[in-house]
Amino acid sequence: MSSIALSLPFAGCGISNSRKNELLKSDTDLSTVKNVFDLEKLSGEVMGKDALNYLNGGADDLRTVRANYDAYGKIQIRARRLIDVTTVSTKIELFGKTLDNPIILSPVGFQAFFHSDGEIGTAKAAEKKDHQMIVSSVSNFAIEDIASESKADLWFQLYPSTDREVTKLLLAKAEAAGCKICFLTVDTPVVGNRETHGTTLLEMIKSGELEMGNFKDILPEGMSFTDPSMTWDMVDWLRANTKMKIVLKGIVTSEDARMAKERGVDGIVVSNHGGRQLESNRATIDCLPEIVNEINGEFPVLIDGGIRRGTDVFKALALGATAVCIGRPFCWGLGALGQPGVELTLEILKAELIRDMQLAGTTSIDKITREFVTTK
Ligand SMILES: Cc1cc2nc3c(=O)[nH]c(=O)nc-3n(C[C@H](O)[C@H](O)[C@H](O)COP(=O)(O)O)c2cc1C
Repeated sequence: MSSIALSLPFAGCGISNSRKNELLKSDTDLSTVKNVFDLEKLSGEVMGKDALNYLNGGADDLRTVRANYDAYGKIQIRARRLIDVTTVSTKIELFGKTLDNPIILSPVGFQAFFHSDGEIGTAKAAEKKDHQMIVSSVSNFAIEDIASESKADLWFQLYPSTDREVTKLLLAKAEAAGCKICFLTVDTPVVGNRETHGTTLLEMIKSGELEMGNFKDILPEGMSFTDPSMTWDMVDWLRANTKMKIVLKGIVTSEDARMAKERGVDGIVVSNHGGRQLESNRATIDCLPEIVNEINGEFPVLIDGGIRRGTDVFKALALGATAVCIGRPFCWGLGALGQPGVELTLEILKAELIRDMQLAGTTSIDKITREFVTTK
């Protein structure tokens, strides 16, 4: 690589010179990495077809996967001028904690399928770059190992098994690992129809090459980690069985937002599982306004699905989200480069958000209000 080529990849992407040099010392040619899509391309080359198909796959014909992303293209930003944007703060308060920024890592299962660093690499990157991570029930590494190896302050995502004793053990593990928030995923009574997933992952789990770290020794052979009989009563059951705050992940209507409010949850995530569950769900950003309206500031409303740019984060915040979560983008980084790739993903997205805030005339997250966007 020539020195000119070396200086190009980060041109204008907001990463410091010392950080560029650090990354460029690695063996991988990062000269093409300007955004998360470049990491997607790179990850495809490095981790292979099966893992990429699993990661990028979705339900049926991937209409909802595409809709999540496309919907952000239909929202415009109304930028304000002549505002001093020399200093920008991305800090937010969420669930009693101050976060450096509103970009959270969604729970994504089986991350060691993308790179051997797996969830431990992701947690180390999240800790180093000051982002919040949510660990999936179906992580390859066990929650206690992720917590002890990384020292990250983790939140936990719950798939309840049909056997509530198994679920109790899972909750106890998460609490012992220091998790303060439990994200109950409510969009997965059964697994969606994912035709592109292939069988490699399942075979690797069957052969023992990959483990389901949290369920090892507690999930009886043949028992599913999802429960199709789960109802709203699960919120009460959870409250009686965990000290963690309860957040429902997968709400897409104002009716369910109201039910969540009535049950006294601590928050919700507007999510359609990245288009991996019910095909033809609306794009999450299109679901957000009615839900924000229903909740009316009573508790945090997070959103995920299709967020790939700083402008997408900005638009979601403007439409009332308290914070956003990203799934595939950090996994592209992980698949491409391991832990440093997750770091790079987070650096790119935060740098984009800061620049977009400056260009729009906003200096803190609370200033990104509804007036800053318009929808066609
Ligand atoms: C490979 C993969 C695995 C996932 N595993 C889980 C999981 O274990 N639990 C869960 O609640 N959501 C899971 N999700 C959904 C994500 O938490 C999140 O809702 C989604 O990825 C957001 O969309 P995005 O990928 O477009 O950012 C997974 C998503 C992907 C892509």
